[in-house]
Amino acid sequence: MRSACELVLRPSVQFHLTRYILTMRYLHYILLSLYIFTTHAATYSEQPAAYAVSSAHPLATQAGLDILATGGNAFDAAIAVSAVLAVVEPYSSGIGGGGFWLLHDGHTHRNVFIDGREVAPASAKADMFLGPDGHAIAELSLNGGLAAAIPGEPAALVEIAKRYGRLPLSISLAPAIRLAEQGFPMNTEFYNMLQKEDRLQQIRRFPATAAIFLHKNQPYPLGKLIIQKDLAQTLRKIATFGHDGFYRGEVAKRLVESVNGNGGHWSLNDLANYKIKIRQPLEGNFHHIHIVTSPPPSAGGVFLLTSLNILSAYPLTTYSNIKLVHFITEAMRLSYWQRMQYLADPDFVTIPLAKLLSQKNAQELRRYIQSERATPSESLKTARAPHEGQNTTHFSILDQEGNRVAATLSINYIFGSSLIAQGTGVLLNDEMDDFAAEPTGFNVFSLIGGEVNRVAPGRRPLSSMAPTFLETPERVAILGTPGGSRIPTMILLATLAFYQDYGAISMVSTMRFHHQYSPDILQFEPDTFSPIFQKELQQIGYRLQSLPDYYGNMQAITWDRVRNFVTAAADPRGIGSGLVFKPNKKR
Ligand code: DON
Repeated sequence: MRSACELVLRPSVQFHLTRYILTMRYLHYILLSLYIFTTHAATYSEQPAAYAVSSAHPLATQAGLDILATGGNAFDAAIAVSAVLAVVEPYSSGIGGGGFWLLHDGHTHRNVFIDGREVAPASAKADMFLGPDGHAIAELSLNGGLAAAIPGEPAALVEIAKRYGRLPLSISLAPAIRLAEQGFPMNTEFYNMLQKEDRLQQIRRFPATAAIFLHKNQPYPLGKLIIQKDLAQTLRKIATFGHDGFYRGEVAKRLVESVNGNGGHWSLNDLANYKIKIRQPLEGNFHHIHIVTSPPPSAGGVFLLTSLNILSAYPLTTYSNIKLVHFITEAMRLSYWQRMQYLADPDFVTIPLAKLLSQKNAQELRRYIQSERATPSESLKTARAPHEGQNTTHFSILDQEGNRVAATLSINYIFGSSLIAQGTGVLLNDEMDDFAAEPTGFNVFSLIGGEVNRVAPGRRPLSSMAPTFLETPERVAILGTPGGSRIPTMILLATLAFYQDYGAISMVSTMRFHHQYSPDILQFEPDTFSPIFQKELQQIGYRLQSLPDYYGNMQAITWDRVRNFVTAAADPRGIGSGLVFKPNKKR
């Protein structure tokens, strides 16, 4: 009989965590503490024996490794990887979008969170996406000029280069410029993304977008080169002029013209005023693991720490399979419930963070958990299932100085707003959909808005993206994933895998299930729960949805500091690659 944790956390490998080992685990802690106490300094490597990059596209991973090989640090490599992803994965992220870059300085051990999230233009209004009947018109926040918020990625790349990098942008942006200029071959992932939902139809609506991504109004055949000369030119301007290369001058002018010519209301000031925010990451503990994760306007980090706080009171490793899935699902439900009530742009609303992250809050939330039954979420009449997807992107980097980057970047939905600004190659995001267009409505990921996350000028829409570091004295993990509302629950399951001593490969591959309070449905990937197991879950009150496909695209790196062993892993659900390079001699 397989153990509970085996089922949830690592289905494909014989898991040795029986009750006997559980008993041994506590013994192990005592021995480990003694061991750490006596031999700490001598035992744990301070600097990794190798450097590593894991990203959603092999060309981006290679660009990151090349930058590290030429003397750049993890932060230079992060710029190269972000920019290459903008070129080769335009359906996921880009300089027309934004993202979060979680950085760790290997020398000072300081962590910093670069918030390059898009902001609403000054013209934005709370009712801008509402129709005459007072209800949101999804199309308006998903496609065309009105859906686009002011991009943050270019500003973030410039700032990372200035404050943390070692190389000039002309070098770190060079791989992206080359790939945009010379092209890269159409692959199955790109091809499939073009065919998803209504994307092809939307892209055809915008001539500048169709001219780049389509050939005679159809996707390019596999292997054909996709060339983006305008994008190369815009990247060159950023390399030469920094912030001004994008946010002022010719590029800014063209962005405003295209957005306003397609339903939006941007001004040159909206662009010139864009600023990244440098924020303090959230930190917390789960048993022996220290967690460094994303603060608001990400809701993902608060979700992660709240769920772990709730779960920390339960002896999870002694639970049956069904009980384990039940308790994890209830923690997901309650943490999502909390999200809707409190989370939004911290520069506009007061978030009671200390309270939300406190053990007392976890204790109060635990009162809603019944040990033998699902607790129904407050019912919402128009509940609908979220879209699955691998749009949005994450990468992880570790260099030999111990610097780390976990970055999740997005243009929101697949190919964002579908609008490329004429003459710039910049595909604009549709991140405005991450606001609550109406307080009780849903966005494309079926997230209930919440009054706190209403549209307002200069505001950042609430995000689920949650780049995260996990640390114990012996091990470090750098992780993150796309997946809309499912991002936080994927990070939670990967954290629980790390808690069970698994490394990067298991963390990205582990089976996935998801609950987000509303709709009140426990979703799971194909093959995650057997028919018998599903029946048992239904018997204790769960409404189930077996998803038609796998979701997420997690990229993780783990560094075992005892053996000084680095592992990089790309999610098998995507086409990415995780590569480790161990130079003969340390530079
Ligand atoms: O910031 C967010 O939460 C969303 N814009 C992320 C979108 C995403 O992950 C799409 N992937 N399936």
